[in-house]
Amino acid sequence: MIVPVILSGGAGTRLWPLSRELYPKQLLPLVGDHTMLQETVLRLDGLADLTAPLVVCNEAHRFMVAEQLRQAGHPASTIILEPVGRNTAPAAAVAALRAMAEGDDPLLLVLPADHVIERPEALRQAVSLGVSAAEEGRLLTFGIVPTAPETGYGYIRANNEQRTADNGQVFPVAQFVEKPDRATAEQYLAAGDYYWNSGMFLFKASSFLRELVKFAPEMIACCREALDKAQIDLDFTRLDAEAFAACPSNSIDYAVMEKTADAAVIPLDAGWNDVGSWSALWDVGRQDENGNVTKGDVLTENSHNCYLHAEQRLVAAVGLENHVVVETADAVLVAPRDRVQDVKAIVQQLKARG
Ligand code: GDD
Ligand code: MG
Repeated sequence: MIVPVILSGGAGTRLWPLSRELYPKQLLPLVGDHTMLQETVLRLDGLADLTAPLVVCNEAHRFMVAEQLRQAGHPASTIILEPVGRNTAPAAAVAALRAMAEGDDPLLLVLPADHVIERPEALRQAVSLGVSAAEEGRLLTFGIVPTAPETGYGYIRANNEQRTADNGQVFPVAQFVEKPDRATAEQYLAAGDYYWNSGMFLFKASSFLRELVKFAPEMIACCREALDKAQIDLDFTRLDAEAFAACPSNSIDYAVMEKTADAAVIPLDAGWNDVGSWSALWDVGRQDENGNVTKGDVLTENSHNCYLHAEQRLVAAVGLENHVVVETADAVLVAPRDRVQDVKAIVQQLKARG
C-alpha cells in the first residue's frame, strides 16, 4: 500500500503577486488547467496499490484544498490541518503517525504540492522501482541531474559502487547536503556525481519515525501529542494548536536526510521543475515563436523571451526583452527575468509595512 502524502503548507513568496498567504502557488493553476495541488494528485493515476491522498496543509486553506481534491476525483482524502507551519519534518511526522494509527505500516510517498513534472510516467516508474528498497527500511529520494549550482536544493552523492536492490536502479546515499553555499554547490556540480534532491521521498511510515526518534525525539513527541489531541471535524483532522505550536521547526532534509545512514537515491529524469520563481514558469511554459510565454489577455509587439501574465486587465508589451510582467487586481510586478528571485525582498517590504 502506498499513501501519497502531499505537503501543501508553503507560501511560495517568490511568485508574488499571484501567490499570496491566503492563495499560495500550489492552489493556483499556474501551468495548465489544474492547480498544482491537483496536478500532484492526478499524475499518480496508474500507480499500483495507491490509497487516497493524505494532505497536510494550513487550516486557513482547508476548504480550497478539500474542494480541489474533490474536483480531482479524490473526495475521500484525509486532510490534516496545521494551526501554524513547522516546516516539512513535523508535517511528514503527523502523516506517518496518522497512517499508522489504523495498525498498518504503509509506504508513504511524500510529495511537495508545487512542482511541475513533464513526464509523470517516469515518476511512476521510479516510484515502482523504489518499492522493494523502501519495504526493506530504506528512505528513498529521487535524484535529478543538476544543471546549475543552485543553492536552494539538497545535493545527493550516490554510492555508485553499491546498489541496494537487484534492479540496479537504487543507490545508497553516500552524502546528503541540504542547501550548500554557492562555492560548495559549484564543487558538487564540477564533481559530476551529485544529484539534486527533488524533495519527493518514499519510505515506510515506521522507517521515517524510527529515524526521527533518533534525530529529533522532541519533534516526534510534540507531533504525537498534537495528533492525540486533534479534533476530527467533518473531513478534517485539526491538530492541537498548543502541542503543534510547541513543536521544533525543521525540514525533512535537515532533520533526517542529512543524518540517516539508510538513505537511498533513484535517478529521476521526468522533466522535473520546482517552479521556484517566475522565470521557472517561463522555462516550463509554452513559448511562442518570439520566445514569449503568455497567460491571459496579452498583446506583444517586438518583444522577446518574456513571461507576461494578465489576470484582470489587458497587458501590452512593446519592445520588451527578457522581462517578467505579472498583473493582478491589486499589484503589478515588472522585473528582468534574471532578477525575479529578488521578489522575495518585495514581499519582506510588504510584511514590514504591515
Ligand atoms: N504541510 C506543510 N507544512 N507543508 C510545507 C511546510 C509546512 O510547514 N513547509 C513547506 N511545505 C511544503 C511546501 O508547500 C512544498 O510543497 C514542500 O513542502 C517543500 O517545501 P519547500 O519550503 O518548498 O522546500 P525547499 O524547496 O526549500 O527544499 C526542498 O525541496 C527542494 C526541491 O524543490 C528540499 O527537499 C530540498 O532538498 C529540495 O532540493
Ligand atoms: Mg520548494
